Amino acid sequence: MPEKNIAVLISGSGTNLQALIDAVKSGRINGKIKIIISNNKEAYGLKRASNEGIKGFYLGNNSEENKEDEILLEILKKENIDLIVLAGYLKILSENIVDKYKNKIINIHPSLIPSFCGKNYYGIKVHQEAVDYGVKISGATTHFVDEKTDSGPIIMQKTVKVNYEDTAEILQKKVLKIEHEILVETVMLFCDDKIKVDGRKVKIK
Ligand code: GRF
Repeated sequence: MPEKNIAVLISGSGTNLQALIDAVKSGRINGKIKIIISNNKEAYGLKRASNEGIKGFYLGNNSEENKEDEILLEILKKENIDLIVLAGYLKILSENIVDKYKNKIINIHPSLIPSFCGKNYYGIKVHQEAVDYGVKISGATTHFVDEKTDSGPIIMQKTVKVNYEDTAEILQKKVLKIEHEILVETVMLFCDDKIKVDGRKVKIK
């Protein structure tokens, strides 16, 4: 099976990105990270890209959404991208891109969707709300991206226990660890053509 060309979109430190880089290097993922795109110039993920000799691209904060779209689409086409991974990318992709890459965009979210997700649920807020609500378990979810926020078909979920004394920061650390696990596993399955989407339901072959 030919290896898949992957684009990873980030906004921040990129620990999920690093987990993917490591899994590609060790041969677990049958793919190649062709480009790392960030909407934040200072994102440490861009440094990770240059450390690894992977192309990095800063997608400036363009006020014209169409222009940004155009640039992004051009890159994806030029690099012959088969899979887009949103690994802590804090911008919403346009409907145009979501449409063109249907079931080819994967996002990682740090809660058990459909809890604590949707517009404005990112960063520590997700975990603070979970702790304040008093949930006994939380976790991480990988899903395909559709036109709404955190609403596409779920691919994989994994849970962590929430203890009475856990703060949002403690929970965030616990969840981040399993994010790395399920994101790598999800991308691995995708690159091995083992994910089948049937409406809202996803079958792992
Ligand atoms: C992760 O919690 C991810 O789920 C969320 O943003 C965070 C990014 O972390 N969408 P990192 O940049 O991969 O370290």
